[in-house]
This record gives sequence, C-alpha cells and structure tokens, in this order.
Amino acid sequence: MEEERIISARVRSEDDLQENTLRPRTFDDYIGQNKLKENLKLFIKAARERGDSLDHVLLYGPPGLGKTTLSQIIAAELGVNLRATSGPAIERPGDLAAILTNLSPYDVLFIDEIHRLNRTVEEILYPAMEDFALDIIIGKGPAARSLRLDLPHFTLIGATTRAGALSPPLRDRFGVVARLDYYNEEELKEIICRSARILQVEISDDGALTIARSSRGTPRVANRLLKRVRDFAQVKANNIIDGKVAKAALNMLEVDELGLDETDRRLLRTMVEKFGGGPVGLETLAAAVSEETETIEDVYEPYLMQIGFLQRTPRGRVITPLACRHLGLAFGQDGGQNRLW
Ligand code: ADE
Repeated sequence: MEEERIISARVRSEDDLQENTLRPRTFDDYIGQNKLKENLKLFIKAARERGDSLDHVLLYGPPGLGKTTLSQIIAAELGVNLRATSGPAIERPGDLAAILTNLSPYDVLFIDEIHRLNRTVEEILYPAMEDFALDIIIGKGPAARSLRLDLPHFTLIGATTRAGALSPPLRDRFGVVARLDYYNEEELKEIICRSARILQVEISDDGALTIARSSRGTPRVANRLLKRVRDFAQVKANNIIDGKVAKAALNMLEVDELGLDETDRRLLRTMVEKFGGGPVGLETLAAAVSEETETIEDVYEPYLMQIGFLQRTPRGRVITPLACRHLGLAFGQDGGQNRLW
C-alpha cells in the first residue's frame, strides 16, 4: 500500500530513470547537509593526499534524503568506481567474497540497507573492513584449513534507515558515522528550482515554496511532487507553476500543506477514534490500519515525530494536540477540554 503513495520516500521503479537525471553529481550541486558535506570533502582530500583509501563510512537517516546520491558523489570525488549492492541482495558469503575480490584499489563498495545483511555474510565483512583480508575455509571437518587472501584497499559505504539495528561489531568498524537530517524549506525550494530547470518547466518562488512545504523534508518527495505538479501545469496552466497552480495540484493529489496524505491522516484519525489518542502499541495500531509494523516505524513515524504529531512512549504511540488541531479532531474524548493522557 505504501508503494502507491505519492509522498512515499521509498524509491519507485518509475522514478529510477528520472531520479538519475535529477541527481546531483558533485558536492557543488548537492544542496543541504552542509556540515556533513564539509566533513566529507576534508576526509576525501586527506585520503587522496595520503594516497590511501577513504575510511569506511556509515550513512544513516530516513529514506529519500540522499544516501545513495552522496555515495556516488564520494566515489566521483575520489576518482574511483562505485560498486553498488544491498543487504538483502547478498544472500551467501560467497556472493560477498565475489564482490570483494573484484574490487579495484580504492574503489567504493556501497551497501544499501546494510542492517539487513545476514550474520554469516556480515562475518566476512569484519576482516575485509579491518585488514582488507578475506578468510576462506578450504575443506571440511578435521582437514579444514583457513586461507587468508589479501584484498585491495577499498572504502565501504553502508547506508541504513536504522543505525540501531546494526550489530555493534559492524557499526564499530566504520571510521565515519554520519546522520542525514531532514532538509529545511529553503533547501528544498532550491532543490525544486534546480530540478525544474533540468525538467525545463517554469516555476515561481511561490510555486517552489508551496511544493517545498509539502515535501516532508525529503528531496525524493520534492522531486516526485514537482513532476506531478508539472503534469497539472502542463494540462491546465500553460506549463507554468506558480503558487496557485501548485496549491491546486497538491489539493488534487490530496497532499496537504504539511505533506500529509490520506494514509497519514487515516493513521492519526484511527489513533483518536479507536484508541482515544493513545498510548497504543505499534502492533495494535498496525493491525488497525492494515499496514506492516516496519512500514509504520520506518516510513510514517519519523516524519510525524519530526513535526511533533506523534510520540513514541514506553507504553505505546501517542498523538499530540498539535496533530489533532491540524486535523480538526477533538483532542481527547471530552472534546478537548482536558488532557486525558
Ligand atoms: N536532488 C535530490 N537530492 C538533492 C540534493 N541534496 N541536492 C540537489 N539536488 C537533489
């Protein structure tokens, strides 16, 4: 269900092609995450001056904030190849061994969703990251011998939406651990204007700002909304996006001025109508809205918490008065006269 949402931060196949044309290729083109960008530039320069590989980097944060993009830029600035894969795609230790032995010196190996690597594969990574070595076992039983193969020096870039789900030994092997934050309105507006230039559609400041406000702090959402608003403008407004056109298009998409769509509103409404605003356990809430717990945790909640609409408490999820006001719902069962929780 989540895949169909226009405000979903997950990659959708139809976006792949266009996402590539909109992706910045250099740090100069990359808007936002300024502190992280400055740090990475410095680490890259130092590694290049030493003639060594860049230390392993762990990027974590909600989906759609540019972890893959940053990895591509890092590889480009290092002047090396990027080999991209993902945790679930590497099923057996042999798969990872094949990838590692095919790397060239200083290459970047990007593993998306690294928290989903299985244990036996993860154990191959430890000596690879630490000593650039691959330990392989030859033979079985008492005759088994361990053989150590040297690997080229490489940089592992791991990306995850959940740093907490990484095993401590894996997390400790990253020299750089960086969190990507949600983008502010000004940054999103800049991203939207840049993308509009690439897509060759005219957009006013007001139009860009209107889309930025509904983008949930997420460039992937901003670009997706821009494309749908462009469709609207093409058919109904001479291909020009101003504030009014953007508002009308977002209205048609049922995306409100905070970027909430019908699914978010349904989740919040369910909390009030069925559970008195909470606290309600994650599993119970997931069952009530027919979603998977992981989707609620990784996709809906981070943004709802970020805007102060939802709290995770030890006793369960709780909706906030701010959310109720936004949705026009009475706060609590008494019509909002008193706090009930
Ligand atoms: N497109 C997606 N993310 C971007 C970013 N951070 N800067 C510029 N363009 C982008």
